[in-house]
Amino acid sequence: MLKVGFIGWRGMVGSVLMDRMKAENDFNGFDALFASTSQVGQAAPDVGLETPPLQDAFDIKILSDMDIIVTCQGGGYTKKVYPDLRAAGWKGYWLDAASALRMDPDSIIVLDPVNRDVIDQGLADGVKNYIGGNCTVSLMLMAIGSLFKKGYIEWLTSMTYQASSGAGANNMRELIRQMTALGAAGKDLLADPASSILDLDRNVTHAMRAEDFPRENFGAALAGSLIPWIDSPLESGQTREEWKGFAETNKILGNATPIPIDGICVRIGTMRCHSQALTIKLTRDVPIHEIESVIADANDWVKLVPNTKEDTLKYLSPAAVSGGLEIPVGRIRKLNTGPEFLSLFTVGDQLLWGAAEPIRRILKIVIGHLTAG
Ligand code: HSE
Repeated sequence: MLKVGFIGWRGMVGSVLMDRMKAENDFNGFDALFASTSQVGQAAPDVGLETPPLQDAFDIKILSDMDIIVTCQGGGYTKKVYPDLRAAGWKGYWLDAASALRMDPDSIIVLDPVNRDVIDQGLADGVKNYIGGNCTVSLMLMAIGSLFKKGYIEWLTSMTYQASSGAGANNMRELIRQMTALGAAGKDLLADPASSILDLDRNVTHAMRAEDFPRENFGAALAGSLIPWIDSPLESGQTREEWKGFAETNKILGNATPIPIDGICVRIGTMRCHSQALTIKLTRDVPIHEIESVIADANDWVKLVPNTKEDTLKYLSPAAVSGGLEIPVGRIRKLNTGPEFLSLFTVGDQLLWGAAEPIRRILKIVIGHLTAG
C-alpha cells in the first residue's frame, strides 16, 4: 500500500483540500499519515481511514518513509524541510501548494485540465516535484488556457480583482472587521432616511482613515477602498504577483517561446474569489463565435456567460461563484481598438481551483501513475 503523508491540512488551503478529498471519496487506496509542526501525538483528523496519531512534520526519518508527501503548510516549511529530505536520499513525490519550489527546474506546476500533457511527460521523465500554481494564474488558465493552446494569443494583460483569502485567513477576518467598522460609522445616518448622503460619506471616509481602523494585516483600508499592490516589489517595477503572471503561465504551458503577459494586481474587498479583466492581442482576427466555442469546450468547469447585463449580474461575480468550482467567463467582445483585440472577464474561487483542487487532482494522478501496471 502506498504511504501518503499530509502536512498543513489544518490551515485554510489544507482544510479546503481535506473537505474536497472527503467529498470525492479520495481517502482510499493508500495509507494516510498526518504530520504536524505543533501538535505531535494528538489524534489525526477523521478521514474514514485508520490513521496513527499526528507525527512530527520535521522528522526527516518519518517523512522519508512516505511515497508521497502533500503539503499545504507554506513556503517556510518547504524551504526548511524539503532540502534535508532530498539530501537524506528520499526519492518520493513532493506535492506542494506553496510557491517555494514552483520555478525550480526540477518542478512541474500542476493544473491538469490545462497541462496534463506536461504532467504526464514529467511523470514519464521521473520528475518528482509537482507544485500548485499561483491562484490568479491558475484561474486565468482554467478560463482561457485553450486560447493559448490554439495559438490565438500574441500578448495579454490581466487586471486583477483579488480576494482577501489570497492574503490569508487573518486578512479575511480583518476585511470583515473593517466592514463592521464602516457599518458602525454609517449606522445612525442610515437609519434616518432624511439624512444627507454627503454626511454619510464623510462619516464612513473618516472611519476608514481613523487611527484605530483595523488595518494590521492589510496595512490599509480594503473595505470601501482597494489596494493596487500584492506581494513584494521587484526591480522591474512589477510586484511579485504581477511577475508570476508571466513566469508561471509560460511554465505551466511549457512554452519554449514565452508569451508576453503583464498587468496590475489589485486587492479588493471580496472573501475568496479572484476576478480578472483580460485584454488579449490575438494573433489574428479570430471571430467571436470561434473564441467562445474554444473557451466553452476547454474543460468541464468553464462556463460561458452571455454578454448581457442580466447574465453578468447573475453569474459573473464572486457572490455567484464563491465556494464552487465553476469558472465563468463573460463580457467577451472585441475592443474598438481593432478586431485583433479581445476583452473578457472571469471569476474563480481562489481556494478551490486557485489552490486546493490542482493539488487534490495531482495526488490522484501520481497515485494512478505509481499503481499503474
Ligand atoms: N498570491 C495570491 C494573492 C494568493 O495574494 O492573492 C496565492 O496564490
